[in-house]
Amino acid sequence: MAHVDDHSGTRRDFLYVATGAAGAIAAGAAVWPLVNQMNPSADVQALASIQVDISAVEVGSQLTIKFLGKPVFIRRRTPEEIEEARAVQMSELVDTNARNENLEPDAMATDQDRTLDEAGEWLIMTGVCTHLGCVPIGEAGDFGGWFCPCHGSHYDTAGRIRRGPAPENLPIPVMRRVSDTVVELG
Ligand code: FES
Repeated sequence: MAHVDDHSGTRRDFLYVATGAAGAIAAGAAVWPLVNQMNPSADVQALASIQVDISAVEVGSQLTIKFLGKPVFIRRRTPEEIEEARAVQMSELVDTNARNENLEPDAMATDQDRTLDEAGEWLIMTGVCTHLGCVPIGEAGDFGGWFCPCHGSHYDTAGRIRRGPAPENLPIPVMRRVSDTVVELG
């Protein structure tokens, strides 16, 4: 039964992704699991880790993939978005924790501690609003980042909550860069 429940949740999430990211999904970007998904007994393993080819994601666009039943936003930020995010002071933030699973739990929410690379071009986050779990829309809201229309939460260009009922920044999942063009999640 658990499997059936998981599956319906996944399908629901996918519909949100398709709606929220219309027009923003980079053509030609590939997503592939590390292990063979045709093997039913490897179901869980297949979801535990994926590698994503990010080479087709253009500056100023976002690739949305589904991982462990949730959308993951892979945003290639513009210089303006990076600059804007880095100009923000900690005192302006609702949540000063980086919420980055790759760092110490008490890491601060500086822009540098939210991004994949030092230059800050790549921002990869779980695309689930920290209020009640809707999927925020990109390039929207009062801070030019993401906007959750369910109850009006505004996230900035580093995915940090700035206004509205959401209590925390959008979480950064476990990931690592495999090469210039490939990122591994999980
Ligand atoms: S779920 Fe996003 S604001 Fe409520």
